[in-house]
Amino acid sequence: MIEVAVTGASGRMGSEIIKTLLKQNDMKVVAAIEAPNTPLEGKDIGEVIGAGSINVPVNGAEMLAEVLAKKNPHVLVDFTIANAAVNTVKTAAKYGVNVVVGTTGFSDDQLNEMGESIKENQIKAVIAPNMAVGVNVFFKVLKELSKILNDYDIEIIEAHHKHKADAPSGTAVKAFEIIADELGRNKTCVYGRQGIVGARTEEEIGMHAVRGGDIVGDHTVLFAGDGERIEIVHRAHSRQAFVNGVIKAIRYVMEAPEGEISDMADVLGLK
Ligand SMILES: NC(=O)c1ccc[n+]([C@@H]2O[C@H](COP(=O)([O-])OP(=O)(O)OC[C@H]3O[C@@H](n4cnc5c(N)ncnc54)[C@H](O)[C@@H]3O)[C@@H](O)[C@H]2O)c1
Repeated sequence: MIEVAVTGASGRMGSEIIKTLLKQNDMKVVAAIEAPNTPLEGKDIGEVIGAGSINVPVNGAEMLAEVLAKKNPHVLVDFTIANAAVNTVKTAAKYGVNVVVGTTGFSDDQLNEMGESIKENQIKAVIAPNMAVGVNVFFKVLKELSKILNDYDIEIIEAHHKHKADAPSGTAVKAFEIIADELGRNKTCVYGRQGIVGARTEEEIGMHAVRGGDIVGDHTVLFAGDGERIEIVHRAHSRQAFVNGVIKAIRYVMEAPEGEISDMADVLGLK
């Protein structure tokens, strides 16, 4: 039985993850952590998310170390916000708890900080800005297209719900990195365009963030040449697409290499 702690337990992703964890025969929710001094302190997380009583109380993040020491979970799943997640990963690493992190919006320094802690404490980790299986196939196709259409103009367009905190999305940033790596030239990301911007350069990759309503997550990469264009599009219909990937990541992380950060391409065998 894989024992799992969830941070951001009552959030949009955390609550869906817990509902799906409850349906797995080989997994058990043992701890539910929310923001520090949460008003949900002590309430049963099952009841909070409308799944019925599961006898797991919500604890505020100020109790994280204590809860991890007491419950000793195999895996901690984090879908919160970047600043919080860095501390959560460092605490989990200190207590020898493996991590699956879906939180987005990390700076390079924050990613390095987590990476050092994971290495130092030799825990196993999956960190991925998009856990949907389809998106990770989209990344693979994107790499191939970038190789073939290397002289086309490339633009990235993402759309998300009105509550999303960070922009552009972690998935769009990863798409940019894949293209820039593949093309092996100095690509610059140009965010939106406004005013008299003049002709686009060959080096730039445009990045556009749309926000509105309840859009779960759309990503388009456009390759425009003279007289034609190709667009590859991924649309998430519901958060279940991400949650299914999280479940795969939890099973994978138990067998992942120690002290390293694995990604969804590792989880899905796409490398
Ligand atoms: N990797 C993926 O596949 C994927 C998919 C969807 C969303 N995300 C990312 O997951 C994150 C969460 O998204 P969401 O829509 O669920 O957000 P949300 O705001 O609904 O949920 C975040 C939860 O984290 C809680 N929280 C804040 N600080 C905390 C702390 N220190 N400890 C514990 N909990 C804390 C909040 O109270 C909230 O309940 C975002 O960064 C989002 O971009 C990733």
